Amino acid sequence: MTDEESDPPGSSPTHPVDEILRTTRSVRRRIDLDRPVEPRVISECIEIASQAPTGIPAEAWRFLVLNQVDPKRALAGLYRRALATLAETLGRPVKPSQQHLADHLEEMPALILVCAQGRPAPDSVPLQVSFYGSVLPAAWSLMLALRARGIGATWTTLHLLHEREAAEALGIPEDVTQTVLLPIGYCRDAVLRPAERRPAAEITYWNRWEGKGEDS
Ligand SMILES: Cc1cc2nc3c(=O)[nH]c(=O)nc-3n(C[C@H](O)[C@H](O)[C@H](O)COP(=O)(O)O)c2cc1C
Repeated sequence: MTDEESDPPGSSPTHPVDEILRTTRSVRRRIDLDRPVEPRVISECIEIASQAPTGIPAEAWRFLVLNQVDPKRALAGLYRRALATLAETLGRPVKPSQQHLADHLEEMPALILVCAQGRPAPDSVPLQVSFYGSVLPAAWSLMLALRARGIGATWTTLHLLHEREAAEALGIPEDVTQTVLLPIGYCRDAVLRPAERRPAAEITYWNRWEGKGEDS
């Protein structure tokens, strides 16, 4: 970029990464179920995800990629059971897009289960924050890296209602914690837009909790 093209001081330039950050949404229905996601591309995205911050123990993240029918089917069955439980608890059907994902889960080109070596400390908030905080940023980086390559995903956790059964089905050791499950596939004409969110001024306090904002 030349000096003439650069943004004036004090303005907020639109960085290419902003577009990805603003438009990485759940993609459930507009996934091409017939197009496999190349293992090489998944590995590349995991390589990028592993640049996320890591705490103690370092690099505890593990990625279990399911791209064969049997393991995907095993997890899909557990996921559907969990969704049915959720609908029962809510006393109403879940959103059609959520139901659609559940109905087609084993047809998704791949399911990526993000795990962490170890178990969270039961009684220590700082250790729990450190534990999950050391793996979930990598899961989000993974979703962003996939999105940058035209691959949609959904951040899901429902199957964790049956974490033990999933572990048995997939051979996951007892000292490994499952976190997010990302069903992924190339997007079919998905137009991804920024979500409606509260403005930063409403959710940000400066210097003291419940301050009214920058200008107060
Ligand atoms: C912690 C967490 C757990 C979620 N679990 C599920 C899930 O199990 N199944 C699902 O379809 N969506 C799940 N979602 C996605 C939400 O239902 C919702 O689609 C999403 O947060 C909103 O993103 P969007 O604006 O891209 O739709 C989860 C999201 C979060 C943050």
